[in-house]
Amino acid sequence: MPLTTLVFSKYQSDIVRELEEVLSGGSPLFEMLRYHVGWADEEGKTVAGGYPGKLLRPSFCLMCCEAVGGDWRQALPAAASVELLHNFSLIHDDVEDCSAHRRHRRTLWNVWGEALAINAGDAMHTLAEIAMLGLTSRNVPPERVIEALRISNQTCLRLCEGQHLDLSYEKRLDITVEDYLNMIRGKTAALFECSFGLGALLGTENQAVIEDLRRCGHLLGLAFQIKDDVLGIWGGEAIGKSDNDLLKKKKTLPVVYALEKAAGPDRTLLLDYYAKQTPDDDDAGAIRSLLRRLDAAEYSEKLGKDYYARALRELEESGVVRDARESLAKVASLVIERDS
Ligand code: IPE
Ligand code: IPE
Ligand code: MG
Ligand code: MG
Repeated sequence: MPLTTLVFSKYQSDIVRELEEVLSGGSPLFEMLRYHVGWADEEGKTVAGGYPGKLLRPSFCLMCCEAVGGDWRQALPAAASVELLHNFSLIHDDVEDCSAHRRHRRTLWNVWGEALAINAGDAMHTLAEIAMLGLTSRNVPPERVIEALRISNQTCLRLCEGQHLDLSYEKRLDITVEDYLNMIRGKTAALFECSFGLGALLGTENQAVIEDLRRCGHLLGLAFQIKDDVLGIWGGEAIGKSDNDLLKKKKTLPVVYALEKAAGPDRTLLLDYYAKQTPDDDDAGAIRSLLRRLDAAEYSEKLGKDYYARALRELEESGVVRDARESLAKVASLVIERDS
């Protein structure tokens, strides 16, 4: 087993237990929620050992708590809350993006329809808030619980602002790399930053180190989303999601780059594609080849690696002790070295 997986696996069973408790309700709505995290099938029957996703955000949260000298078990409700917020965003995102598959299974709206999926997403969001309140029964002082809730709600707002930009960019062709970065700061980096920041907040009162880790989490979140964009076009079956970024006219980084770089017949091909009401798989295949020819994957991978390197520098210069810095740096590489 790779070392990175070993470091993270230390926290995973506790995260799963915490999530199971929050999602243990007996109604049909809860069966849908458990389906989303892989623990129930479409009939609501329990799936033993189902796959809840990579659990990156809660794992980073607990690791940051430990890195600043805290008791990571005390931060478990915050870690679960962050993961539930992530899952709320995924349920709604799949409706918004018309994505039929996630984690190698049909998405909630694809099984139960959009109305019930939106309602399930709302419930997942509420459970994220309730989970955070669990900090009170782990002896976290009330002022800190309120601060944690303030941070997670502000994060959720930033995430929605990012999603707003992502969706509004579908209709536009004038998106620059700066516009793109502004969008992913909200839709993805904000929650990574929140995971790191909450973990640190629950482990120390040293504001400087909390800020250091928040900045590190934010930069890693940017690297993570850029990698996701590349996987969204070239990742194939392994990603377990519908690869419809091109069909949905998403302005992911490889596309933004191509729109800036393409000239002559390449530019005509791109503009004709985005002028189509409903491009098909063949059209998307031609664009995928064009992006390759323009080195859009290389450009994107390089920018993702630059943000990853900046995140590591932030960590290196932080007030976190050396051993913990090294452990965090080892798992941080998962963000860009992944195929799903
Ligand atoms: C998917 O995140 C959403 C993005 C921000 C790209 P993850 O890839 O972390 O999703 P799971 O939870 O592991 O499925
Ligand atoms: C990721 O959205 C961010 C959120 C879900 C908030 P994407 O639409 O880029 O991610 P995937 O590819 O569906 O996971
Ligand atoms: Mg989306
Ligand atoms: Mg999506």
